[in-house]
Amino acid sequence: MSKLKVLSFGLGPIGTSIAKLALTRKEQLEIIGAVDANPAFEGKDLSELTGNASPTGVKVTKSAGDLYDKADVVLHATSSFLSVAEPQLMAFCETGVDVVSTNEELAYPWFTHKDSASRLDEAARKNGVTLLGTGVNPGFVLDALAITLSGVCASVSEVRATRILDATKRRLPFQKKVGIGLSTKEFEENVRTGKFGHIGLPESIAMVCDSLGSPVEKIDQDISAKIAESTVKTEHFGSVDKGKVIGLVQDGRGYSKGRMVARYHIEMYAGAESPKDEIELVGNPTIKLQIPSGTPGDIATAAIIVNSIPRVVEATPGLKTVKDLRPASSIML
Ligand SMILES: NC(=O)c1ccc[n+]([C@@H]2O[C@H](COP(=O)([O-])OP(=O)(O)OC[C@H]3O[C@@H](n4cnc5c(N)ncnc54)[C@H](OP(=O)(O)O)[C@@H]3O)[C@@H](O)[C@H]2O)c1
Repeated sequence: MSKLKVLSFGLGPIGTSIAKLALTRKEQLEIIGAVDANPAFEGKDLSELTGNASPTGVKVTKSAGDLYDKADVVLHATSSFLSVAEPQLMAFCETGVDVVSTNEELAYPWFTHKDSASRLDEAARKNGVTLLGTGVNPGFVLDALAITLSGVCASVSEVRATRILDATKRRLPFQKKVGIGLSTKEFEENVRTGKFGHIGLPESIAMVCDSLGSPVEKIDQDISAKIAESTVKTEHFGSVDKGKVIGLVQDGRGYSKGRMVARYHIEMYAGAESPKDEIELVGNPTIKLQIPSGTPGDIATAAIIVNSIPRVVEATPGLKTVKDLRPASSIML
């Protein structure tokens, strides 16, 4: 089989780790372009961002230009929000290139962003393109894993999921995303924007409940600050003084046929003890799966994006979600 031509679009910490992993898959993939809006990256060889010792020959450009025509698949990592990413995704559709994206709201927009989902699905079908939003979460831990696990249950009455993550060493954009270093007032102001905290929780809940044949009527969630009780040191943000925010606790609930059917709990803060991912399906039988220490977000995100490339290439056109496709799998070295 000829190599798939890949365009890296968005080269923040996540896009860069995706590109770095894609560069190792020399027999299957060829990176033909790297695009990022940050003027500081323009003209650099991709290796200067990925840390590869030898030049890749791929120069970072500010826009994709004619690179779409050469690419089979775009690896997209620019934004968590569909309001921002939809024009980018539309441009990919119009040029006929398949997409694997880290965009959290794209992971399952059929409940939270129905209009956007319909527009993207229509554009993808019209142009013979497959669009997929995936990642560790959403895309794996709190949705695909729960759906897969439910396959051994005769019935499920409630989905309970917990993700506890120590934010101390996570990338800077992640540390900012969970509010590290903010005052309580700033944190609350951010929560009120509705665009803060872990993006994708309602998407995970809606996907799982749809998969289990119990679509949600309502999802609610609340986000509260975790406050430093003494100075806390973080790898990228630096020290956080006592009284400042070190992260967040987020709870989400999904309701179907008038009762709560999904209860999700996330803790993401510097110094969180006993990190873990846990899915419990209450049902017949009740079954619980735990990943001790949790799924390491950044490398695992790069892996699932790269491992999903064959899935979008083999899929029929349209907006797909991880519940529609064969699970991504890795390669054995
Ligand atoms: N689903 C999951 O499990 C999962 C896991 C990890 C990350 N994510 C998401 O993946 C995204 C990327 O993560 P990150 O930490 O690398 O974020 P980031 O630091 O914000 O990086 C995004 C990069 O994309 C660039 N960009 C933005 N708009 C662009 C455009 N229109 N054209 C070209 N480049 C553009 C940005 O440039 P500027 O800085 O100049 O704007 C920046 O360099 C985030 O939204 C993150 O939440 C999802």
